[in-house]
Amino acid sequence: MARRKIIAGNWKMNKTPSEAVALVEELKPLVANDDVDVVFCVPAIDIIPVVEACKGTNIQVGAENMYFEESGAYTGEIAPAMLTDAGVSYVVLGHSERREYFAETSETVNKKMLKAFEHGITPIMCCGETLEQREQGVTMDFIRQQVKVGFLGVTADQAKTAVIAYEPIWAIGTGKTATTEQAQEVCAGIRSCIAEIYDEATAEAVRIQYGGSVNAATAPELFAQADIDGGLVGGASLKADFGKIVNYK
Ligand code: PGA
Repeated sequence: MARRKIIAGNWKMNKTPSEAVALVEELKPLVANDDVDVVFCVPAIDIIPVVEACKGTNIQVGAENMYFEESGAYTGEIAPAMLTDAGVSYVVLGHSERREYFAETSETVNKKMLKAFEHGITPIMCCGETLEQREQGVTMDFIRQQVKVGFLGVTADQAKTAVIAYEPIWAIGTGKTATTEQAQEVCAGIRSCIAEIYDEATAEAVRIQYGGSVNAATAPELFAQADIDGGLVGGASLKADFGKIVNYK
């Protein structure tokens, strides 16, 4: 069975609640496309108004982070049940910005992965190499490590529903998209890694996105690759361009 494409916007730390609603209203008609999954991953404080604004549309709402405990003395964190109760169905985990600025590690990402599955939230687990790692030729070793640790203890049935976003750090927010060949090569490598951990059926089911300066011009060729099942889009998800990315065909 062909994998359904998933195109997600990662708003990062942009848009106040009222600006968020205005952006949803602008994008709603532009992102209409029943052939793909469309997800808006938004700042925590925007989740409730965005879920409300997306009612009756094809847009699903995601969070940009989540904690791995149920509740308790974790000042400033957001629990999985808070997200599901608010209408969230996806969560971005282990984005490189969280790894770089907020001490996120593959071990904490793994704990969050397990929690997300437990609560029926689909994780979009990010991985990707630095420019230095690419130049040193250790891209695939590094990413395999991120994937293997991230998926520790995740069952094959859970893994089948997961989304993995391959985001080379040097391509994020730089306007420098990886070439189609580079993106396809790593996404295929990630799929092989999933086949090694689980089996072919799991590898065939898991959805792998490319992220890093995706725009309306680069999306069609990227999304046409055999192992690229959509994109995680930062900058261009805040603009009308996102409609063109979602309707890339
Ligand atoms: P970008 O961000 O599209 O602005 O490069 C992608 C991401 O960080 O998810």
